[in-house]
Amino acid sequence: MTKTVEEILLQDNYSKEDIIRLLKSDVRERNLLYAKSAQVKKEHVGNKVHFRGLIEFSNICEKDCLYCGIRKSNKNSNRYNISDEEILKAAQFAFDNKYGSIVLQAGELTNSSYLKRIENLLKEIKKLSDGKLGITISLGEESIDTYQRWFDAGAHRYLLRIESSNKDLYYKIHPADENHNYENRINCLKNLQKVGYQTGTGVMIGLPFQTYEDMADDLLFMKDLDIDMCGMGPYIEHEDTPLYNYKDALMPLEERFNLTLKMIAILRIIMKDINIAAATALQAIDPIGREKAIKVGANIIMPNITPGMYRNDYALYQNKPCTDEEAEDCAGCMDARINLTGDTIAYDEWGDSKHYKRRRGDII
Ligand code: 5AD
Ligand code: FES
Repeated sequence: MTKTVEEILLQDNYSKEDIIRLLKSDVRERNLLYAKSAQVKKEHVGNKVHFRGLIEFSNICEKDCLYCGIRKSNKNSNRYNISDEEILKAAQFAFDNKYGSIVLQAGELTNSSYLKRIENLLKEIKKLSDGKLGITISLGEESIDTYQRWFDAGAHRYLLRIESSNKDLYYKIHPADENHNYENRINCLKNLQKVGYQTGTGVMIGLPFQTYEDMADDLLFMKDLDIDMCGMGPYIEHEDTPLYNYKDALMPLEERFNLTLKMIAILRIIMKDINIAAATALQAIDPIGREKAIKVGANIIMPNITPGMYRNDYALYQNKPCTDEEAEDCAGCMDARINLTGDTIAYDEWGDSKHYKRRRGDII
């Protein structure tokens, strides 16, 4: 006998079939889901939003993911690499504005001078903030030794999306070569956990060929891996990428948006105390998309503090919001936005994943 959404929501743990049913919920049913996920959020992480000032410091990338606008083969991408001085200035801005943490994100590189550069930058950022600024990095697949070096230099959280946990789908959205290996990606996530990072992953939602079953499996993958943080967002096609050929097979943007909210709500219920980011890609579809995500379970927002002149060129997908803004413009805007959600912004706090601390036995 198939269960109703009401019956499923009375449970705390969901089977794959339960999750698929929730993902297929209609408007009335999804509101019940959102009410429950909001309640779980309130009880387990509180109605607080933590900021991570996002610095997208370079779009130079060795990878060639078939969906990504800054992939190596995209000759239309204007490549940039922000100087260390400017990166430190952006970090100083985050610190002065009490953001608590920053995220350093860039295209993927593996050469030794780059690895050293990141190590130095991390140390410098720690120095300028007297150790007070939390640092998340999102710099792709590296060796465990590199992960350790960067951890020792001051990074304590790492984001590495699995993109899709379904191996077949993974290879449909990545080229079949050594550089884009599914097992290696999972191995990297495990290495990050081994080193001691708060480890985050995530997926894209609404990819070509992706099914409800895949999305349910994605959530169960995250639970199984026992991740501390998640950032997942809608897939948005980019015309300079090979995956653009499948644009006619995609579900409408609005549906990708709604599915992302449902994924966030379900993840909040099945992994109560993790940090969940409201992805910027949500804002590309709906101007208050991130705020909607906060309402249904997300508790992290990443205001872009990349210097304005570079923002246009970090175009992973099209229609990226706020590319004309400077960090100063975003600061006031974020305040007003979070007020809309009824949550409060936790300034000057790291906002570490409670799940991580519980997992390590720091809190019971
Ligand atoms: N649409 C949505 N998200 C994308 N990303 C890359 N390209 C796209 C796209 N076209 C996401 C990937 C990557 C993160 C940095 O950006 O999930 O991990
Ligand atoms: Fe892999 Fe951009 S090239 S995510």
